[in-house]
Amino acid sequence: MNNTAITVKGLKKSFKDKQVLKGVEFEVKRGEIFALLGSNGAGKTTAINILSTLMKPDGGKVSICGFDVQREPDNVRQAISLTGQFAALDGMQTGRENMIMIARLRGVSNPAQVTDNLLAKFNLTEAANQRADKYSGGMKRRLDIAMSLIGTPAVIFLDEPTTGLDPEARMEVWDKVKELADNGTTILLTTQYLEEAEQLADRLAILHGGKIITTGTLNELKEMFPPVKVEYIEKQPTLEEIFLTIIGKKEEK
Ligand SMILES: Nc1ncnc2c1ncn2[C@@H]1O[C@H](COP(=O)(O)OP(=O)(O)O)[C@@H](O)[C@H]1O
Ligand SMILES: [Mg+2]
Repeated sequence: MNNTAITVKGLKKSFKDKQVLKGVEFEVKRGEIFALLGSNGAGKTTAINILSTLMKPDGGKVSICGFDVQREPDNVRQAISLTGQFAALDGMQTGRENMIMIARLRGVSNPAQVTDNLLAKFNLTEAANQRADKYSGGMKRRLDIAMSLIGTPAVIFLDEPTTGLDPEARMEVWDKVKELADNGTTILLTTQYLEEAEQLADRLAILHGGKIITTGTLNELKEMFPPVKVEYIEKQPTLEEIFLTIIGKKEEK
């Protein structure tokens, strides 16, 4: 089997006369966590929408697990799942009900069993019978990601999985993402946070000005930009680390 999960070549997309993607190129290997890093408005969601067959590109070629997004969209949809930037939950229903509904829609043979397993895996068993609108931001995100795993997709897209979360909830999501990758799932995530890419990504790409301006592992990028290794930065804890230490999260881990 081919070792490449995602191939993107010459990807272009404009909205009216605004060119957002100007020939984006990157590759993601199977089982890898790949971060697409870019500031607000860089075109991350546009790229994810095209890769997940929700939007048509103007030009270029995208294949997911060997399937072409334009010619074989049904095969692509079978292979992927997408978690959007904003949690897609029904607040009036419990976490469990939300999940069973999706499991039924996806046609899995044992929705209740699949739901209970995933709720347990994402530490949501206790909260399973509470309404989703009572969940914290981190719990909503975890439920959202858990729901995206129904049917065990080979590739999952996470569009800014931790934007808007507090540092503690962010770390919970990171742990779950790492677990998924450990189990062999290919993960493409977008983020505005350098630290998130640093924590999670095997490789990362920086999307800027409509193009991928750098790709590589964190170490490769650090070698390209040595000033990143300034001693001062390594010795001083970040504000986030201080915060987490104070609230005792570091010790628990
Ligand atoms: N459906 C759309 N119609 C018009 N402009 C859009 C649409 N979607 C995105 N854009 C524009 O494309 C640019 C990239 O947006 P987006 O892909 O959402 O960026 P990111 O996810 O990196 O923040 C932004 O300037 C945005 O306003
Ligand atoms: Mg976005």
